[in-house]
Amino acid sequence: MTKSNDSLLTLGYDLNEWNYYGVKTPIVVDISPAENKHQIYVGLSGSGKSYHLLSSVAKLIQARPDGEYYFAAYKSDDLLNFMHENECKNYYFYKNTLKALDLVYERFQARLENSDTSRHPICLIWDEYIANVLSIMSDKKLVNSVLDRVSELLVAGRALNIICCASMTRCDAFAFPAGSRMNYGIIAVIGGYSANKSIYEMVMPEFTDIIKARARERDFERGEGVVLLQGSKLKFIKVATVDMEKVQGILINALSKVGGVCVDGGAKP
Ligand SMILES: Nc1ncnc2c1ncn2[C@@H]1O[C@H](COP(=O)(O)OP(=O)(O)OP(=O)(O)O)[C@@H](O)[C@H]1O
Ligand SMILES: [Mg+2]
Repeated sequence: MTKSNDSLLTLGYDLNEWNYYGVKTPIVVDISPAENKHQIYVGLSGSGKSYHLLSSVAKLIQARPDGEYYFAAYKSDDLLNFMHENECKNYYFYKNTLKALDLVYERFQARLENSDTSRHPICLIWDEYIANVLSIMSDKKLVNSVLDRVSELLVAGRALNIICCASMTRCDAFAFPAGSRMNYGIIAVIGGYSANKSIYEMVMPEFTDIIKARARERDFERGEGVVLLQGSKLKFIKVATVDMEKVQGILINALSKVGGVCVDGGAKP
């Protein structure tokens, strides 16, 4: 069956085709309601995970402009600060990130209770999720509440079109209780294998040999790595350089919607 454009999202390009044949073959994922669209981008500092997160979210927004988008950034660095500078209403950084979670969780509960029957995407984007959790570690009650709510969003969100997209430098098991990490349909590890070995091994243990062999031929550079789709399909990926001004414009627009309400007011199934 042919998928419509608003059901498909190009994550990046096939790295093997790019490196060995100079061909740009898109890696396309299905973002229709039936699919698991939760995403994580993992890699060491400077590997390009926030860049990949931004470019993927911009494409998601383009595909679903009717969605509600909430951005939490533990550190509002140079790449992300445009959202603060442009006073985006739905941008929450540093000590305020948990407000984004509160808002999305509230919307999730309304859909669970059926007081909200709309099904347009409601998306929580969280840059440096694990660092953020570690920063509140002294407040055990708060940590548990964050972890529990994120797990709930991951486990039960798909059917209600709630999407979680996060970047993280580490991918600690404690932050994904009850194996909820497996609920991410799109898992990207970005950056050189030699530098990120422990990350690749932790996130995708069953594919370590394949990844190691590929990296031995030619190790991944910034913006290159591996993506695991729906827990089974492994692809080597190249995150193309994007027009960052355009990406910024798309995010500024989406994060500035009053009350996160859809532009067209209509809920797509
Ligand atoms: N695919 C790419 N094409 C062009 N530039 C890129 C690409 N990926 C990353 N960069 C650039 O590399 C730098 C580091 O990227 P980024 O900030 O995304 O890394 P990070 O992994 O999020 O690092 P940190 O953990 O420190 O936040 C940025 O200046 C970004 O613009
Ligand atoms: Mg970053």
